[in-house]
Amino acid sequence: MKITVIGAGNVGATTAQRIADKELAEEVVLVDVVEGIPQGKGLDMWESAPVEGTDTRITGTNGYDETAGSDIVIITAGLARKPGMSRDDLLAKNAEIVGGCAESAVKKSPNAIFIIVSNPLDVMTYVTMKRTGLPRNRVLGMAGVLDSARFRSFVALELNVSVEDVTAFVLGGHGDSMVPLPRFSTVAGIPLPELIPEKRLAEIVQRTREGGIEIVNFLKTGSAYYAPSASAVQMAEAIVKNKRRILPCAVWLEGEYGLRDTVAGVPVKLGRNGLEQIIEIKLQPDEDAALKKSAEDVKANIAKVKF
Ligand code: NAI
Ligand code: 2OP
Repeated sequence: MKITVIGAGNVGATTAQRIADKELAEEVVLVDVVEGIPQGKGLDMWESAPVEGTDTRITGTNGYDETAGSDIVIITAGLARKPGMSRDDLLAKNAEIVGGCAESAVKKSPNAIFIIVSNPLDVMTYVTMKRTGLPRNRVLGMAGVLDSARFRSFVALELNVSVEDVTAFVLGGHGDSMVPLPRFSTVAGIPLPELIPEKRLAEIVQRTREGGIEIVNFLKTGSAYYAPSASAVQMAEAIVKNKRRILPCAVWLEGEYGLRDTVAGVPVKLGRNGLEQIIEIKLQPDEDAALKKSAEDVKANIAKVKF
């Protein structure tokens, strides 16, 4: 098993380290445009291997030759929004960066499954599909696992229970219009509406929607990366171990949930072939409307991408 992580910044480096700590691959290749950074971080991580007792070989590079034959490629490269930059500017710039990385990577690893992390996540998933020409089962966006993890962590705090007993589902796009679904979120199988009063649950849902900005407001110079990297690695693990886990992932839709020509987070069975099945659940009218609105927002942004 060989995994390439593109972008050796906060999310990328932490992702590579988590993969090594879990020994999910024999080889991890970290790629970045900045000279020395992937090499230095890769070497530093490899030097922690004897202490951690992991044999995953991590190396860093500024090119793609070393990535050849990867089974999984995780894309975290991109810019964060800077002062004076509109969301559309960011979208255009990151589409260029992610598209270029995806195209270079697929030439060396034509059989890889791609996990996309760069923002705006849903649009970048589409960009990767278009630029690689890969089928949708091999291009998956990471956001739902993170948004669900945030929801789960807040519920565990609220009820003072183990995170292990809390399951949660957040669907839709990775943004203000994401769709947390309390009805399908449980503590040891008990639906959340049975355990948390409606008003308090609504506050937790709102905190989940604003989970990304809550971290940015603390960090000030960057965004979250511990929970995002853990989430990307959970997806990689499901693929590496062919676990067939049901995880919310951003995928290209072809009529599922009444949606097409757009990307949205939906429950996916994730195994060795990537997306193995989209699980369709019957939504109530308000949930359905929220998912459609979220997917329409993504579609409008997809229309802005120029190739
Ligand atoms: P960062 O700024 O720490 O790292 C980004 C890295 O990408 C930098 O090292 C930069 O040199 C590199 N890069 C830029 N252009 C490149 C290229 N052409 N080829 C290779 N590397 C290139 O940012 P961070 O915190 O790691 O975030 C990365 C991306 O992930 C951002 O777009 C961020 O918004 C997104 N993100 C998405 C999440 C999600 O839930 N989907 C969660 C957290 C972050
Ligand atoms: C997050 O939700 C920035 O998308 C990133 O933390």
